[in-house]
Amino acid sequence: MTPAILRHVPDMQAVARGWKAAGRTVGVVPTMGALHAGHLSLARAAKAGCDRVIVTIFVNPRQFNTPSDLLKYPRTEGSDAAMLATVGVDMIFAPEADAVYPPGFATNISVGGVSGPLEGVHRPGHFDGVTTVVAKLFCMTLADCAYFGEKDWQQLQVVRRLVRDLNLPVAIVGCETVREADGLALSSRNARLSVAARAQAPALHRALLSASGALRAGVPAAAAMQGAVNEVLASGFAAVDYIELRSVDLEPMERLDGAARLLAAATLDGVRLTDNIAV
Ligand code: PAJ
Repeated sequence: MTPAILRHVPDMQAVARGWKAAGRTVGVVPTMGALHAGHLSLARAAKAGCDRVIVTIFVNPRQFNTPSDLLKYPRTEGSDAAMLATVGVDMIFAPEADAVYPPGFATNISVGGVSGPLEGVHRPGHFDGVTTVVAKLFCMTLADCAYFGEKDWQQLQVVRRLVRDLNLPVAIVGCETVREADGLALSSRNARLSVAARAQAPALHRALLSASGALRAGVPAAAAMQGAVNEVLASGFAAVDYIELRSVDLEPMERLDGAARLLAAATLDGVRLTDNIAV
């Protein structure tokens, strides 16, 4: 059955309050819609972990760096709802921008530290938009658990920091990146690649895997990362924003010692792709 769609905050809170009064746990999957199998894997994890599952669909204007990106963002609510029906999601919460940011809205949640590097440098203000809306979505849905993809690994760390710092009563669950058979991480942006570029795109993931192999063999981070940048550019990408080895708190690492992540952002065919892997 297609899940009901709620648009108003008081309605969403009343439904969630009713579930909680009946002793049910509430799992929430925040999304911006244009759903694919990556989003559905989060919804499935939420179904497995919680009694009731809400998927939020909100294209959050505050986290976009350019108005044209916001306008271009695909809106596919009908097919999103049909996909969520196959997973057995209980409710979709898809508020209008005015319901989330009513006139006079004046609050900004800014997480320091982990928000600073990488995407923080290339997309100034982006994470403030994310943390502000995520905190609001938690309050609107009364989430007990919330599910985020490792595809946006820095975002996941930023949300974990937000929850710890503000003592938000929400358990954050990170879910593995879902990939195409050739390794390309699923993203709504992949649809904007030409056929030729789509064939080149898995080079980003391949370069991360070869850098990871080099790091494990003891190659210093600077050399391993430069090797990956060269590989990506040689595969047809126009520019690399970064390929970096970072600790769990997003600190740079000179060589592999302890838990680490390799993160990348690069442009192909005018489309900015991001990926990351554990090392
Ligand atoms: P969006 O890009 O729609 O992504 C929603 C969630 O799906 C995020 O947690 C993201 O990491 C996860 N996701 C995307 N692609 C995935 C993949 N291939 N495998 C696994 N998970 C994947 O991220 C956002 O929206 C927004 O910033 C949001 C958190 C909703 C705040 O507006």
